[in-house]
Amino acid sequence: MSFPRLSEHDRALHYSSEATVRSRQTRRAYAVYAPFYDRVFGRVLQQGRRSAIQHLSLLEGGRLLEVGVGTGLMLPLYPSHWTVVGVDVSPEMLSVARGRVRSLGLRNVQLSQMDGASMSFRDDTFDAVVAAYVVTAAPDHSALLDEMVRVCRPGGHLLIINHFRQSGARGVADRMLSPLLRYAGFRTDLTLVETLDRKGLQVCSSEPVNPFSISHLVACVKANGHANSVGT
Ligand SMILES: C[S@@+](CC[C@H](N)C(=O)[O-])C[C@H]1O[C@@H](n2cnc3c(N)ncnc32)[C@H](O)[C@@H]1O
Repeated sequence: MSFPRLSEHDRALHYSSEATVRSRQTRRAYAVYAPFYDRVFGRVLQQGRRSAIQHLSLLEGGRLLEVGVGTGLMLPLYPSHWTVVGVDVSPEMLSVARGRVRSLGLRNVQLSQMDGASMSFRDDTFDAVVAAYVVTAAPDHSALLDEMVRVCRPGGHLLIINHFRQSGARGVADRMLSPLLRYAGFRTDLTLVETLDRKGLQVCSSEPVNPFSISHLVACVKANGHANSVGT
């Protein structure tokens, strides 16, 4: 039995509709989470956020982008030598972040609704780019990372906090649960190596964070002379 081959056009349509479905799932999930996100994912994932802040406090400072800023749990923690721009696709999560910025009077923070996989910033705009628990929540993690690298200046810092697929029995569970967890707004089947492959990044450190070492804080530097193109 033979199946008709998909044309380039049909293939492009198939992938773009899959991306649209994933994007819709993500927005829907975070619209639901927004009112109680801080109570569920605040304290339990805070050690990872604090470790990233410690790392940043040792750097020179400058312009920092937080992609997938969510409800803004990291915003009050940024040292004052960083000027922060936060973006997120979810208006509901951003609305909580805006309330936090207002109530705490955070003057070094600007927020925008924007897809991290297609940002309006120019190349090499930021001295540091942070993504806390976002890479595996994004509908297209590879496009998100390409964009994070593009807007970071050469020699600038990228900090990623995330759960990556583990080895052994935990890795099998990560792989099996991932399709279900998509509906909850994230996945568990990506490895660190797959995620950062061919992104023009030098990985400086990777340390386990959070209870049961469930996440890693990965600190990278954008290589000088990075060509800013996908797959370099
Ligand atoms: C697990 S939450 C993390 C929020 C926050 N960074 C924290 O530390 O709690 C993931 C966030 O990423 C956002 N997100 C997912 N895909 C995105 C994308 N492509 N661009 C921007 N934000 C995205 C979601 O809307 C959600 O607010």
